[in-house]
Amino acid sequence: MSVTKNIVVLPGDGIGPEVTSEAVKILQAVCERHGYKLETESYDVGGASIDRYGRPLTQETLEACKKADAVLLGAVGGSQWDDQPKDKRPEAALLGLRKELGLYANLRPIKTYEPLLQSSPLKEEIIKDVDIMIVRELTGGIYFGRPRLIEKTNTGERGVDTLVYTTEEVERIVHTAFETAAVRNRKVTSVDKANVLDSSRLWRRTVKKSAKQWPEITLEHMLVDNCAMQLVRAPSQFDVIVTANMFGDILSDEASMITGSIGMLPSASLGKEHAMYEPVHGSAPDIAGENKANPLATIASVALMCRYSLDMPEAALEIEEAIQTTLKDGFRTGDISTDPSSEYLVDTEEMGSAVLKHLNPDL
Ligand code: NAI
Ligand code: MG
Repeated sequence: MSVTKNIVVLPGDGIGPEVTSEAVKILQAVCERHGYKLETESYDVGGASIDRYGRPLTQETLEACKKADAVLLGAVGGSQWDDQPKDKRPEAALLGLRKELGLYANLRPIKTYEPLLQSSPLKEEIIKDVDIMIVRELTGGIYFGRPRLIEKTNTGERGVDTLVYTTEEVERIVHTAFETAAVRNRKVTSVDKANVLDSSRLWRRTVKKSAKQWPEITLEHMLVDNCAMQLVRAPSQFDVIVTANMFGDILSDEASMITGSIGMLPSASLGKEHAMYEPVHGSAPDIAGENKANPLATIASVALMCRYSLDMPEAALEIEEAIQTTLKDGFRTGDISTDPSSEYLVDTEEMGSAVLKHLNPDL
């Protein structure tokens, strides 16, 4: 890896620009600390790109992403673009980036932060030892299957989506899940709906077959409805969860409540050649432009970037520790605060600066 780290930043819409600018500050600080030069280029994506170029994702943006060491994305979307045709909506940029960059594995770590145990709606004794990695398949399944359409019928209309998985798609995501479990607690829970869906029956059969390559790792299968229940009943039973695109989307939002807020959850989307890092949350139009958003999910995404793409594992740990310490100090954005009159209630920028102070005390 060269001494320069080239990052493409796609701030996007809503709170995206607010949270990414805090995360870039952090990335800058760890690069300086470890003797790397950081070069960032910023491009419009999603609604911001529609407003400027009439398209949610331009070829120029895509080419820049392909050349970068990694991509940092904020969030896209907003009701002002709702009347666009579906391939021109902001969210089409996400699907386009995932597909074009070949980002088939989405890693979403869910870990409780000790200082936040009380801000989760779940009981402290249930969530205190949670450390889960959700490995979500990202470029297949019902979000990409064809045909998809809405058409008129004699009596009204009908809407169609198609759920397809191939053995190759399942094998490669299973590979990611088992390799991830091998350096964690050596347990994989494969989540499907094999009692109803044929695609899930193929999923389960393929997982069983592939798992033979990792005899030291425990494999269990769970139906998605049961998994949704177990995540709030006894979440510490899980180590790595591997699942299809839509199930992973829903289960990881549910699991975010273990951490207390969706504003805390990072993600890494990995392919064979490229990688993109983004918070799990969306553009939060209800608080956009108010400097209220929690930047920690995006900052933690930069930690994952250091670990998986930039060959800076110590920097990843330093950022994660700085987040812990900042929370221990008491700093809270609105979404994780239990006391609206606290002097530690901070805005987006102040939260970013508080984390930065732990990485570079001179600032
Ligand atoms: P959302 O994640 O944007 O917001 C859900 C709730 O969580 C809101 O009350 C919001 O204020 C709060 N929230 C989210 N992130 C926060 C943060 N960092 N700090 C504090 N509070 C935070 O999901 P929603 O409302 O369903 O979708 C809003 C828009 O975002 C839609 O257009 C949707 O399509 C898009 N979206 C984009 C995603 C992406 O860019 N990857 C992912 C999910 C949704
Ligand atoms: Mg979601």
